[in-house]
Amino acid sequence: MEKKRVIIDTDPGIDDALAILLALASPELQLEALTVVSGNCDAVQGARNALGILELAGAGDIPVAQGMRIPLVQEALLAPETHGETGMGYASLPSPTREVVPQHAVDLLIEMIMAAPGEITLVAIGPLTNVAMAIRREPRVASAVKETIIMGGAIREWGNTTPLAEFNTYFDPHAAHIVYHSGMPITLVPLDVTYQAILTRADVDRLLTVESPISHFIADATRFYMEFHDEYQSIEGCVINDPLALALTFAPQLVDTKLLYVDVDIGCGVSMGKTFADFYRMWNKEPNMKVALGCRARDFIELFLQRIEDFCRAHPD
Ligand code: BDR
Ligand code: CA
Repeated sequence: MEKKRVIIDTDPGIDDALAILLALASPELQLEALTVVSGNCDAVQGARNALGILELAGAGDIPVAQGMRIPLVQEALLAPETHGETGMGYASLPSPTREVVPQHAVDLLIEMIMAAPGEITLVAIGPLTNVAMAIRREPRVASAVKETIIMGGAIREWGNTTPLAEFNTYFDPHAAHIVYHSGMPITLVPLDVTYQAILTRADVDRLLTVESPISHFIADATRFYMEFHDEYQSIEGCVINDPLALALTFAPQLVDTKLLYVDVDIGCGVSMGKTFADFYRMWNKEPNMKVALGCRARDFIELFLQRIEDFCRAHPD
């Protein structure tokens, strides 16, 4: 089986860490690089987290590039209340024994995508600043990328950062605007589906029956994330947005999608960063993305657990 070549653009982040682990645990995928952007934490800390996650998972040879530290126009709005001061909740990662690559993440994205036109699937699970910058610097990346799967937005769902807007999109709405209108083949994975993907305490206990530093890392990180969900959103367990987006690279049947014209508000008013779709084609514009609107959430959680259990078994120390 030929593996699907994937780059993850990420702001690690607890659910980002779970997405990276799921990628490493998935035989269909070849993880080519992690490019890091500010979001859940600053990109410098995020790059350190990315290196630590790869080290924990025995994947220390995958390149990590640090990218944009601030959004295109807005100020950075980090999320320590959701992901902890380091971005990893109560978990600590091994200190990285290597450095980020010398290239900026935007340059690495351009270089890798342009070197293999039609081959790289980009999974963007943080704010879209790096991706937008790559498009501005080398517009041909939009047609050279095989597909971009974006975790972001809230179409029929309410927001998780403002009453209307989702975090990744609110953090850098101008970047989202550039990416949405770039002509890239996009699948959007908004809160409409990710808020159904809830990892429970029982799920984490199940992972802990496999003795591995990875299962303990997941337990320590998600304990913080679950406390956030309980305190701020009255949700039992935690929503694992980013792993669902990653899973669509090899299991697209987990969601139902609709081709739609989608845009994001950059008007600086109450709905700044709000994503919306023209369901009735009132503007007569061509659809610019596939949007996931339905989800077999428990199938996804089961898939996630099985793969991570197997991965933990393969990494007992
Ligand atoms: C998104 O924002 C971050 O908190 C998560 O990592 C995810 O990418 C969900 O709104
Ligand atoms: Ca993220």
